[in-house]
Amino acid sequence: MSQNSQIAAEVRRRRTFAIISHPDAGKTTLTEKLLLFSGAIQIAGAVKGRKASRHATSDWMEIEKQRGISVASSVMQMLYREHVINLLDTPGHKDFSEDTYRVLTAVDSALMVIDAANGVEAQTKRLIEVCRQRNTPILTFVNKMDREVRDPLDILDEVERELGMPCVPMTWPVGQGKHFGGIINLRTQAMTVFEAGSERRPQDFETLPLAQADALRARFGHDWDTALESMELATGASPAFDRQAFLAGKQTPVFFGSGVNNFGVMEVLDALVDLAPPPGPRKSHLLTQGQTVERVVQPDDGFFSGVVFKVQANMDANHRDRIAFVRVASGQYQPGMKLKVQRTAKELRPTSVVTFMSQRREAVDEAYAGDIIGFTTHGGVQLGDTITDGTVALQYTGLPFFAPELFMTVILKNPLRTKQLQMGLAQLGEEGAIQVFKPEMGGPMLLGAVGQLQFEVVQHRLKTEYDCDVRLEGCPYTGARWISADTPAELRAFCDAYPQRLARDAADALAYLCTSPYDVRLAQERFPKIHFHPLREHA
Ligand code: G4P
Repeated sequence: MSQNSQIAAEVRRRRTFAIISHPDAGKTTLTEKLLLFSGAIQIAGAVKGRKASRHATSDWMEIEKQRGISVASSVMQMLYREHVINLLDTPGHKDFSEDTYRVLTAVDSALMVIDAANGVEAQTKRLIEVCRQRNTPILTFVNKMDREVRDPLDILDEVERELGMPCVPMTWPVGQGKHFGGIINLRTQAMTVFEAGSERRPQDFETLPLAQADALRARFGHDWDTALESMELATGASPAFDRQAFLAGKQTPVFFGSGVNNFGVMEVLDALVDLAPPPGPRKSHLLTQGQTVERVVQPDDGFFSGVVFKVQANMDANHRDRIAFVRVASGQYQPGMKLKVQRTAKELRPTSVVTFMSQRREAVDEAYAGDIIGFTTHGGVQLGDTITDGTVALQYTGLPFFAPELFMTVILKNPLRTKQLQMGLAQLGEEGAIQVFKPEMGGPMLLGAVGQLQFEVVQHRLKTEYDCDVRLEGCPYTGARWISADTPAELRAFCDAYPQRLARDAADALAYLCTSPYDVRLAQERFPKIHFHPLREHA
């Protein structure tokens, strides 16, 4: 097999996805079950301490624990039906939703888990929005059918409304709560009978063909008739499953089950293998002879390339190294390979590269598109960086930074620590733990966040990791917009008009700071040719 066709074969058998859900819907439980009956190859840490991640408060210990957990279980890789499945973890707390958005740029599909009693909840809606923007295919799992929950038709209706796309039921529940009888698999035309118990494997459940209608009716009585009726209504109202529409993010296959009982979970894992897409092409900018042209990189292109979508501080505060997580976009990673950061053209010499891919004991560490590699770094790598083997000069686009909605001024208590503060802020900014803005007119640095907890984490980390005691003070800003203009003259005119409102972020991008929602409107009216961006994509 030629190298390219070998790479293509490896790419075809990969599925990289994340679970999106509201806290408590059952993400952790489902993750555990997926790992249980697939051969987990590598788990960067066990799935544990779920209480800590769920109830993160402003308690420092909780924050530390949360950081630890998200480092530990960032990537899980499993082997199922000869496929390599990468499951990327997303932080649970809403204040870290920016991190979650970035993780979603590194996956090829998403599994939405819904608590059947609560329907689509607030946090899920925001995550759906991000998937929709990127047309990420979404599979839906309606969980906790063993409880007293809502009518399945009702849930489908809500999912359709929230997702803005039709649902296609793949399984259908018979009864619920105490009367939960099982699920009908529409594809195989068989019913799998529910039994409670957390250690049950899929093959332990009894399966009966729908052709035995009389026996099923006799056994499940009224629930059977109701299920058939509602299933008919649901399938009558929904389109047939169309793989192309699903891949384009235009319909979602829906599964019912009970995560904690490992029931209906295998159907979802099968769907990930059979329906979800393998890694696809990615857009990049190719830098050639001083010119930038767009280039679409294929996952089986021969050169190695990838994007840093997450930078995570080590748990040990005495070591200031961090782990950069790279989603491989093309080629093949092999240990000892040279890695180059495109932005700086510097070669990386990581002391250790973790791959989550060793499938055998003898550690054949290699990674292909869709896989994640992590390496330790002492700086010089930031979110959105493109890493290659040095044989091409390209930069991936698409890692989003959202305009902060909360701002604080950083006041250093001991001015002799200014240098350390600058370093600390630069590094925390690179990690994406917070956004750091330097006002053009000088003065104290500004911190911008999407969630309040981010400030507390940064203040705490500045103290413990950089020995900088800082006070955070409120400031009048309530939003920011990144600025661009078609000509330098227009940009200059704008800058001259609002010198006190301008600041530069960690990537040196110019932003306009606002004190009210009207600000942007007024500034836009005054300068119609200036572009105000609520989102910056790393370029
Ligand atoms: P999360 O990661 O999305 O936050 O949710 P997690 O899996 O931790 O599940 C939240 C709670 O819901 C847990 O209960 C879990 O056992 C329960 N759960 C998950 N799936 C099902 C299901 O299919 N049926 C039922 N009845 N419950 C389910 P807990 O009591 O809060 O925690 P624990 O003591 O069970 O760990």
